Amino acid sequence: MNEFGVKYRIGIFGSSHGLCIGAKVEGCPPGSKISEALIQVELDRRSPGRGPISTTRRERDRLEIVSGIIDGRATGGPIVGLVRNLDTDSSAYDAFKRVPRPGHADYPAMVKYGGHHDHRGGGQFSGRMTAGLVIGGAIARQLLERKGVSILAQTVQIGTIALEKDVPFSIAEKIVRASAVGCADRRTAAAMTEAIVKAHEANDSIGGIVRCTVVGLPVGVGEPFFGSIESVMSAMMYSIPGVKGVEFGSGFKCASMRGSEHNDPYIIRNGKILAKTNNAGGILGGLSNGMPVEFRVAFKPTSSIAKPQASVDVVDKKPVELVIKGRHDPCIVPRAVPVVENSAAAVILDLMLQGGFV
Ligand SMILES: Cc1cc2nc3c(=O)[nH]c(=O)nc-3n(C[C@H](O)[C@H](O)[C@H](O)COP(=O)(O)O)c2cc1C
Repeated sequence: MNEFGVKYRIGIFGSSHGLCIGAKVEGCPPGSKISEALIQVELDRRSPGRGPISTTRRERDRLEIVSGIIDGRATGGPIVGLVRNLDTDSSAYDAFKRVPRPGHADYPAMVKYGGHHDHRGGGQFSGRMTAGLVIGGAIARQLLERKGVSILAQTVQIGTIALEKDVPFSIAEKIVRASAVGCADRRTAAAMTEAIVKAHEANDSIGGIVRCTVVGLPVGVGEPFFGSIESVMSAMMYSIPGVKGVEFGSGFKCASMRGSEHNDPYIIRNGKILAKTNNAGGILGGLSNGMPVEFRVAFKPTSSIAKPQASVDVVDKKPVELVIKGRHDPCIVPRAVPVVENSAAAVILDLMLQGGFV
C-alpha cells in the first residue's frame, strides 16, 4: 500500500536504484499557488552528501514536475513529481539476497516476495523513498503557510546527547535549517555531530529523536474516531523507515503522572482560550485544542553498519559473519528532519481539508 490520505492523497513510487523516485499527489485544490523552487528547497534538505555525518552517495535530487502544475498553479489533476536516481551502485546489495542484513528489511522482504523484490539499494524499503513524502508534503506546507499554520521539526536527541533547553519557535527554524544535524542549539549540535562522527569511526551507527511542532492550527482539526490527529500522524510517522517510537505531548511520561499534574489548566490570554501547560501535545479527543501540536519521533540507529555482524546464509542455512560495504548514513536523524516536517504537513492539510478548514 503506497498511498496515504483521504482528501489530500500522496502516492509514492519508484525504488532506490531504479529509474526514479517520486510522488503522485491528488486532492490539491485547483488554482493553489505552488512554487517548485520551494519543493526543491525541501528536497535539498533531505538529499544526501552533507559532510561526515551522511552517506557518501551524492545525489542532487533535482525535482521534475511531470503534471498537475501549470504556471505555478495546481491544475486540479494529479500532481506528479519525480527525482531521477543518478548515483546508483548496486554491487554491494547482491550479497544481501543470500545473507540478510540484521536490522534491515532484507529477510522479511525476501520471504514475502519470494526473492523477487528489488533489493538494489534497499529497493522500496530504502530511506530514499521518503523523497516522495517530501515532495507531497512540501506542496501541502505551502497551502498551510497561507492559512497561518507553520511546522518545524528539529533534532532534539542523538544517542545520549539531548537538547536541554527549548529554543523559541520563531528563531529555531532558521538555525535548524542551517544546521547539518538539524538542531536549534549550536553547542548541542556540535556535540551531536561529534557523537555521529565517533559512531561512524567505530564502524557503527547511532539513533535519535526528532521533535515536531505545528503552530497556528485552528481549534477542532481532526476526524475522530480513526482520523484523530494522533491516529493519522502516528501512522504517517511509523511509515518513515527507521521509526520505532512516536509520542505526543508528555507521551509515555503520562503513565507516571497524576491527573492534577497532567491536565493542562485553561487560561485566557488576550481574550483567547489557551492552556497553561501542554502535556496533551495540543490534542484532546483527537482534535486540535489551540495549543501547538507537539510530537516526538524516535529513530533507531542505522542498521547497515561496517562492523562485522552475525547473520546466516539462507540457502546453505549456515551462520555467516556479514561485513557490509556500500554507502550508508551513520545516523538517519539529520536527513529525517525534513521528512518528518513535510510529511506532517501532508497529514495536517488532509485533516484540514476533511474538516472544511481549507
Ligand atoms: C532519510 C533516511 C535515510 C536512511 N538511510 C539508511 C541507510 O543509509 N542505511 C540503512 O541501512 N538504513 C537507512 N535508513 C533506514 C532503513 O530504510 C530502514 O531501517 C529499513 O528500511 C528497515 O525498516 P525499519 O527500520 O522501519 O524496520 C534510512 C531511513 C531514512 C528515513
